[in-house]
Amino acid sequence: AGLEFGLGAPYEIEYHDRIASTNERARELAAEGADGIAVVADEQTGGRGRLDREWVAPSGGVWLSLAIRPDVPPARAPLFTLAAAVATADACREAGVDAHIKWPNDVLVGGLGGETDGDADGDAPGASGGRGGRKVAGILTEMEGEADRVSWLVAGIGVNANIDPGALPADATSLQEVLGEPVDRRRFAATLLERFAALAGTSDRMDRILPAWRERASTLGRRVRVDTPNGPVTGTAVDVEPPGALVIETDDGTRRVHAGDCEHLRD
Ligand code: BTN
Repeated sequence: AGLEFGLGAPYEIEYHDRIASTNERARELAAEGADGIAVVADEQTGGRGRLDREWVAPSGGVWLSLAIRPDVPPARAPLFTLAAAVATADACREAGVDAHIKWPNDVLVGGLGGETDGDADGDAPGASGGRGGRKVAGILTEMEGEADRVSWLVAGIGVNANIDPGALPADATSLQEVLGEPVDRRRFAATLLERFAALAGTSDRMDRILPAWRERASTLGRRVRVDTPNGPVTGTAVDVEPPGALVIETDDGTRRVHAGDCEHLRD
């Protein structure tokens, strides 16, 4: 399907035309001891998203899961998710798509600044493409850790590359839809992996991940509502703190949220 690699990417590539889930395969490889292998597929039949959701993954995407065994404490593991989001946003930008990151790790197109009233671009109110932007990529990280050390980590990255938007959820888009032509998926994936390696390949470089994430994020400075496992938190997102908590100023004081779905509200 034209996705085979063999490029000078910094990781070994295992390619599948079709697989249930690249994360599942990468987990197997990681548990067997693999370190630095990317499982890539053209199509997934059982793609998985965050929070136990299904991830629609037809032919034409970049469905990629990187298995690594980083020598870091488990508390630093969320940084790899942020690094994956940065690398994905950069690969989108290199392909000509002005992507930004919505906390914690969604890569979106559009929905910034003046568009936040939801119909400034002529969409029906509430139509996708309005204030929230549309999702082009998401990240699902899974890990196994001991008390003081990660044993393995799988960063699963799903990019709606060359996909007909009709095959995607309503709030999603694809690089092909935005650009009006297909992207070179091999080049896209190679760029992504190179960027990831540059950010997270050695532990002494990991201090650069959070600043890089902040630069590409559209969440900071905005009003947000995060649906956390303990209920919704609404306020202004002011920062991200190590290893990836969103700091929100609410009417009742400062809250730090570690997981949940974040919605950008009208400013
Ligand atoms: C999200 O919910 O936003 C995360 C989606 C992650 C999807 C990717 S596609 C490659 C890898 N394999 C999976 O089954 N899921 C991840």
